[in-house]
Amino acid sequence: MEKSGGGVEKVKKYYIRTFGCQMNVNDSQKIAGILKSLGYEPANHWQEADLILVNTCSVREKPDQKVLSALGEFKKVKNKNPDAVIGVCGCLAQRAGYELLQKAPFVDMVFGTTNIHNLPQLLKEAERGNKAVEIIEEIDERETELDRYPTVRDNKYTAYITVIRGCDKRCTYCIVPYTRGKERSRRIGEILQEVQWLVEDGVKEIHLIGQNVTAYGKDLGDVKFYQLLYAVSQVEGVERIRFTTGHPKDLDEDTIKAMAEIPQVCEYLHLPIQAGSDRILKAMDRGYTQKEYLEKIELLKKYIPDIALSTDIIVGFPGETYQDYLETIKVLKEVEYDQVFAFKYSPRPGTPAAELSQTEDGETVSRWLSDLINLQKEITFKKNKEYQDKTVEVLVEEEKEGKFVGRTRTNKLVHIDSGHNLLGEIVKVKINRVNRFSLEGEAVKVISEEAQLW
Ligand code: SAH
Ligand code: SF4
Ligand code: F3S
Repeated sequence: MEKSGGGVEKVKKYYIRTFGCQMNVNDSQKIAGILKSLGYEPANHWQEADLILVNTCSVREKPDQKVLSALGEFKKVKNKNPDAVIGVCGCLAQRAGYELLQKAPFVDMVFGTTNIHNLPQLLKEAERGNKAVEIIEEIDERETELDRYPTVRDNKYTAYITVIRGCDKRCTYCIVPYTRGKERSRRIGEILQEVQWLVEDGVKEIHLIGQNVTAYGKDLGDVKFYQLLYAVSQVEGVERIRFTTGHPKDLDEDTIKAMAEIPQVCEYLHLPIQAGSDRILKAMDRGYTQKEYLEKIELLKKYIPDIALSTDIIVGFPGETYQDYLETIKVLKEVEYDQVFAFKYSPRPGTPAAELSQTEDGETVSRWLSDLINLQKEITFKKNKEYQDKTVEVLVEEEKEGKFVGRTRTNKLVHIDSGHNLLGEIVKVKINRVNRFSLEGEAVKVISEEAQLW
């Protein structure tokens, strides 16, 4: 720790800005864990920070641009505090770290997605005034040292655990395998240890994450994803389990059965389809046809009749025609997802699809995308309306503007009125108002303390 003028130790402060998916969110939580172990404390605002870290995403072009504009802003921290360190990590750092240093020469520290555990050494180097750069192309075998650090989280009651890193799928449009490397499953014992820490820390909902969680164990050889689900459910204190992202190809009947059988596994699944047309699915190298995907959905609905579903869609993949696009629309109407995350295709340098030429102009694709989003808005609203007057189970995660806020097992956001403090409780809520993106209701019973009835 640095000594300030009066000899009093000044606590250093960090600020992390995170872009991208659940993997980056969890990495940032681990980074905060490392910084805590080094004596750092979180800053309320980036302007007060001694260390600013930008954890980047590169999945589409827009996030790339967002990073540069964020850095442009953060640069100003040095006006007041010339010794402040600015660092960049995550997927864009892994893919284009050196380029970034050229575009933003004031950046002091850059490290890749498998070098996070080296943050203490890199930080020392940067504090000495040197450029600290570590972007290893090969997987750093020592990356599992990260597992030793507990995460620092905003949410007290629900927590991510990374169970598999990387992705072996190589969908032709996707940068992730290049930024995150091959699949590496964490040992089950280490995962259970982390579950234990989290439960002891008050966590009730465990969210297992990976770019492709359903492939868990393939590289270990002796364990499968559904076995991990059972093992996690046996840790005392785990009240809810979720997992993201499942790949349709690896989602097997054993896993679906386990989802139905294990009481803590929530009735919700994010199962990205990307496109409805078989021709486009093939060009994307997704490894399934529309029919095969719909069969998985049918199986899910058979085992878990009240399951809520969400998906990801890419509109305007090279070669996609209006007829192909209509196949996606058909799937949306047939499945009736609770939520859809739809994006315009964005060519990523170095991926096979980036070599293909675009058939439709940007304007047409934008129209397709907005029509699709509008259709889905109505479906989401219709699905939400099914909750009117129903009583649902909610894990209350926060208090906001006089209301308690949490999620149903089906991942619906609920605002709750109650005179009691419900934070961290699993409560029964009677839904009395349905909005497009959330539900509202009254707490009728605390499940965690069955005896307490109102
Ligand atoms: N592993 C997950 C998705 C990871 S990336 C899976 O296989 O489903 C998150 C989402 O970003 C993807 O589902 C996809 O819809 C979107 N995406 C990925 N690459 C993209 C690209 N080049 N252009 C537009 N969207 C993309
Ligand atoms: Fe990307 Fe495909 Fe891997 Fe998902 S499964 S991360 S879309 S390569
Ligand atoms: Fe983005 Fe990397 Fe996740 S590219 S979507 S942060 S794995």
